Amino acid sequence: MEETGGRHIVALCVLKGGYKFFAHLLDYIKALNRNSDRSIPMTVDFIRLKSYCSDRSTGALKVIGGDDLSTLTGKTVMIAEDIIDAGKTTQTLLSLVKRLNPKMVKVAGLLVKSTPRSVGYRPDFDGFEIPDKFVVGYALDYNEYFRDLNHVCVISETGKPKYKA
Ligand code: HPA
Ligand code: MG
Repeated sequence: MEETGGRHIVALCVLKGGYKFFAHLLDYIKALNRNSDRSIPMTVDFIRLKSYCSDRSTGALKVIGGDDLSTLTGKTVMIAEDIIDAGKTTQTLLSLVKRLNPKMVKVAGLLVKSTPRSVGYRPDFDGFEIPDKFVVGYALDYNEYFRDLNHVCVISETGKPKYKA
């Protein structure tokens, strides 16, 4: 809220994995808004990305669905991401968003993985640093499974073939 300078924010949720974090983050920002003398107006938008098959990045980022991103031009954008793994997905999304000339763009990532595959990207705001394991739950999936878990956990090696694509 300090960094946006009190300007209108477009909160952009990266689906599907980001929806739980997004909902909780917005609840929290709303609570801050209620308890401060000037509240920040906010609109929400959703984008859907897909780059993973099982626990592997396919390298190709697919943007499927979502509003016309040109609505972000001139806006202060806060992107909410579930996980920064190698960082390629977020970096690609950022370059797409920046092409539309937003006034400012910040990324909030719930989880940041420590991995040798990292391209060196760090989000502006991060929640937790996690080890190089494939995690599921709290909207994060393995082939669409486990999004319904309330907690984040590491998928076991026996679980992987059981839920393979
Ligand atoms: N879990 C779920 N989805 C992911 C992960 C992960 O560890 N890394 C990139 N997408
Ligand atoms: Mg996924």
